[in-house]
Amino acid sequence: MSIVDIHELSYSIDNITILENISLQVQKGDYLAVVGPNGGGKSTLVNTILGLNRGYKGSIKLFGDPLKEFKRWEKIGFVPQRVIEIDSKFPITVHETVKLGRISSLRQFWRSHKEENVFIDEVMEMLKIPHLKDRLIGELSGGQKQRVMIARALVSKPELLILDEPNTGVDQETQREFYSFLKRLNREKGITIVFITHDIGVIEDSINSIVTVNRELIKSNNPTTIFNCKVMRDVYGIDSHLQNHRH
Ligand SMILES: Nc1ncnc2c1ncn2[C@@H]1O[C@H](COP(=O)(O)OP(=O)(O)OP(=O)(O)O)[C@@H](O)[C@H]1O
Ligand SMILES: [Mg+2]
Repeated sequence: MSIVDIHELSYSIDNITILENISLQVQKGDYLAVVGPNGGGKSTLVNTILGLNRGYKGSIKLFGDPLKEFKRWEKIGFVPQRVIEIDSKFPITVHETVKLGRISSLRQFWRSHKEENVFIDEVMEMLKIPHLKDRLIGELSGGQKQRVMIARALVSKPELLILDEPNTGVDQETQREFYSFLKRLNREKGITIVFITHDIGVIEDSINSIVTVNRELIKSNNPTTIFNCKVMRDVYGIDSHLQNHRH
């Protein structure tokens, strides 16, 4: 069974086709990178998968269930592209926000309550937010807020983690630790990851597949050759800036 199974999905806004005839399967344990130009439809695709867009054509199944019947949302963690605006007086602290992610968690994931708390601390350390834990969420900077939202998605212990350019505004050192943490979650816990990014070089050694979304979806089965792939050159114009990150 595929965790995400999309068949001939099309989606239009005001008679403009944003997504056309997209078919895609994500299997348990996959680490899929989604790339493509600005406006290509990446965010629209994940928002549609998450049931946020109505009126699409085609079929979407999550964990084997048709999207319209899917209810087990605790299985999915999502970090949206844009930092949500929160009133600076909203009476909820960083620590409370992160722990909220835990409410819908899957109990069997953890051997003990202690292990669970250790994980929350580890996630907060990794994202460098422990010193912010008693601050109100609405008072934080954009990058700090984004780090809290990432922590929140991670502690919900999802089976599928969807990240839409989660690093917007997050500093590079935190990003690096975050990437290696995600890789560990994927390899050691078997968490399936769908990662939308413009910076494929930094997760290149973690992913096992890559797709390009530019209204249509273009698959490449071999991530290491994607940089030389004609498709990428066609989509981005040139491929040289994509190679700068390669180590
Ligand atoms: N609510 C909306 N109303 C009208 N057009 C929209 C709406 N949401 C998205 N679009 C259009 O859909 C297209 C795809 O947008 P989308 O945000 O999915 O792209 P993206 O690949 O995520 O881009 P980026 O890399 O900049 O995040 C764009 O042309 C955008 O203008
Ligand atoms: Mg987007």
